[in-house]
Amino acid sequence: MSGFAAPKIESVRIGVIGLGHRGPSHIQVLRHLDGIEIRALCDLLPERAEAARHSLEGTPHKPTLYSGGASEWKRLCEQPDIDLVYITTPYYMHASMAVYAMECGKHVASEVPIASTIGDCWKLIDTAERTRRHCMMLENYAYGPFQVLTLNMARKGFFGEVVHGECAYNTSKMSNNFGKNFYWDMWWLKLYAAKRGNIYPTHGLGSVAQIMNINRGDRFDFLVSVESNDFMMGAAARQLAARDDFYRPFAGKEYRGNVNTSIIRTVKGRTIMVQHDATSPRGPHSVIHAITGTKALAQEYPLPPRISNSLKGWLPQKDYDDLVRQYTPAITTRIGELARQIGAGHGGTDLLEDWHLIDCLHNGLPLDQDVYDGVAWSSIVPLSEWSVLNRSGSIQIPDFTRGAWQTNQPNMDIDLHHGGNTRVIG
Ligand SMILES: NC(=O)c1ccc[n+]([C@@H]2O[C@H](COP(=O)([O-])OP(=O)(O)OC[C@H]3O[C@@H](n4cnc5c(N)ncnc54)[C@H](O)[C@@H]3O)[C@@H](O)[C@H]2O)c1
Repeated sequence: MSGFAAPKIESVRIGVIGLGHRGPSHIQVLRHLDGIEIRALCDLLPERAEAARHSLEGTPHKPTLYSGGASEWKRLCEQPDIDLVYITTPYYMHASMAVYAMECGKHVASEVPIASTIGDCWKLIDTAERTRRHCMMLENYAYGPFQVLTLNMARKGFFGEVVHGECAYNTSKMSNNFGKNFYWDMWWLKLYAAKRGNIYPTHGLGSVAQIMNINRGDRFDFLVSVESNDFMMGAAARQLAARDDFYRPFAGKEYRGNVNTSIIRTVKGRTIMVQHDATSPRGPHSVIHAITGTKALAQEYPLPPRISNSLKGWLPQKDYDDLVRQYTPAITTRIGELARQIGAGHGGTDLLEDWHLIDCLHNGLPLDQDVYDGVAWSSIVPLSEWSVLNRSGSIQIPDFTRGAWQTNQPNMDIDLHHGGNTRVIG
């Protein structure tokens, strides 16, 4: 399925499962795209399905609603006049929903991570290969301006050989996680009490993996993962429970460590550090995004982004700006400004991601991230957990491409050599 292109779809008919935070933000982006129809919406909670339908009033989209039962999403997948199913539910549900949607003949676009067990990783691959359906994980951070800039620079040889990458999802989620109604059923807090390891690796890792051509000339070989103890979540739960009985069930739980640091080694001998910290009282958000090459370095966080290609230190602003002008690819120059104008989420990256997905489907082109990418990046969830539970022992990362990584070609067309004709409606 690497390089796979489905027949062109003139108007992409879409169903969305999961209408908490992420589902509605995709809907608000999709409604700005020409050549799509939102045909169905599903959420367990009827009021969320209704609110999402309401947000589309006055547009040409007249979706069928599914809600009120935990399996209603299956009926959405079975609806015949749908080409693409967006999955934006809690992440441990993604794989089974994606597999069922592909079995029903639909292409899939799933939020991150797409899988949380190795068994689910293989089910996704087997199903995508057998049904010949796209199965894209929506790693939107890979569309950030600095991420796409450094991908282009790597492709053009600016870094020389890329030796090492550092990435993270380090951002404070304490108040969201302890919020009674922030996430459905407080699912994130429950995950923090149920799992160890890096439970959210893909935001930083996706772009670094693309820069290293993972699954296309190199692949992940093994990892080790080290985790701190929990110094904050248990204490916060106990403090809240002292004032409010609602939190009593959370007070006796043991939470995953606050900071997880995993190191991946690739078969070509490169290394990647992936970190997760969602508990520290940190103001600044960071995905780090540091690229170390034989000829140059780049680092996005702590802001501002910087580049160095000599022993003199970081490049002065003027030289940095020249490089940005020289290496910013078409996907950012053409679509980035439109994304900012319509106020798309995550600094506009959500529009780039959804726009290019739809544009590739319109034009019968391979997608930016294939099933092997989504699965390899997500596999860090269960593998880092195994390592943490085994005194940080090393664990092999499966070759999800079954050997094809040696011949697969890069597949994110950031220069828009093909397609690029999908209109963004203001
Ligand atoms: N890419 C990004 O930047 C980004 C940002 C936020 C969240 N996410 C990912 O998006 C996903 C959703 O996160 P969220 O913040 O929207 O969560 P959320 O809790 O706000 O929303 C989840 C929704 O799923 C619904 N749901 C639960 N079980 C269901 C079922 N059986 N059938 C139908 N609907 C069901 C819930 O009612 C809820 O409305 C997660 O996997 C998360 O990791 C990605």
